[in-house]
Amino acid sequence: MKIALAGKGGTGKTTIGSLVIRSLIEKKKGPILALDADPNSNLNELLGVVVINTIGAIREDFKKSASRLASGIYKDQLIEMNIHQILVEGKNFDLLVMGRGEGPGCYCYANNLFKRYIDILQDNYDYIVMDNEAGMEHLSRRTTSDVNYLLIISDPSPKGILTASRIKDLSDEININAEKIFLIVNRVNGKLDERLKEYIEEKKLDLLGIINMDDNIYEMDISGKTIFNIPEDSLALKQVKELIEKLKL
Ligand SMILES: Nc1ncnc2c1ncn2[C@@H]1O[C@H](COP(=O)(O)OP(=O)(O)OP(=O)(O)O)[C@@H](O)[C@H]1O
Ligand SMILES: [Mg+2]
Repeated sequence: MKIALAGKGGTGKTTIGSLVIRSLIEKKKGPILALDADPNSNLNELLGVVVINTIGAIREDFKKSASRLASGIYKDQLIEMNIHQILVEGKNFDLLVMGRGEGPGCYCYANNLFKRYIDILQDNYDYIVMDNEAGMEHLSRRTTSDVNYLLIISDPSPKGILTASRIKDLSDEININAEKIFLIVNRVNGKLDERLKEYIEEKKLDLLGIINMDDNIYEMDISGKTIFNIPEDSLALKQVKELIEKLKL
């Protein structure tokens, strides 16, 4: 079961991704692989694990030492051999972080390697939860593909919903092979405005549910705590649990 998160900047992709992971753990589901495909990664912080290495960093090291490496080993094989240096093996989940190389430019190589690592690893896990960078780049680069559920996160604003619908349209257009695409509206104050609901229908988005503004999330964020520190009765956690029930995860 592969679940990926998408959406514009700051809508709550990483927060919801980590809430999904906590919920799965509490439902005794597993094994779980968390994937951080955001070059500006921070999923590990919410999950409370330290990342020593990323694919981007390994790639940089490799570039620097390439000339000194023994011939006979293909560079791709060599990089693949490093998979266990990169995989963070936690108690309840493992985490793979794409990261990025140094300097500007294309992340193509790290991207391709990331895809390959996912291919190698995915059979070992029942659940894969993938956090992505904001926007649509990851769709066109095809790091997000072959997922069971693509969850597009939006804030409760028309502009947010419009961006979400663009993400859905692009996903359909380039056929990323998502079995089902759902919208989640996050950081809602009270109930979802009826006019926004109509707009969501107009845009032909499938609303999976809403997540309310939750002070426990704010508290976690501001005090640098992890998703496992928020109280059991926290509203956002409960709502994410309901959403994953709906998806029959
Ligand atoms: N339901 C919520 N209630 C309160 N605060 C929230 C909620 N969801 C997310 N936040 C806060 O909103 C901010 C953005 O959340 P998050 O980092 O998860 O978004 P993101 O979509 O991953 O952002 P980016 O595009 O930068 O990766 C964070 O400060 C987070 O704590
Ligand atoms: Mg994020």
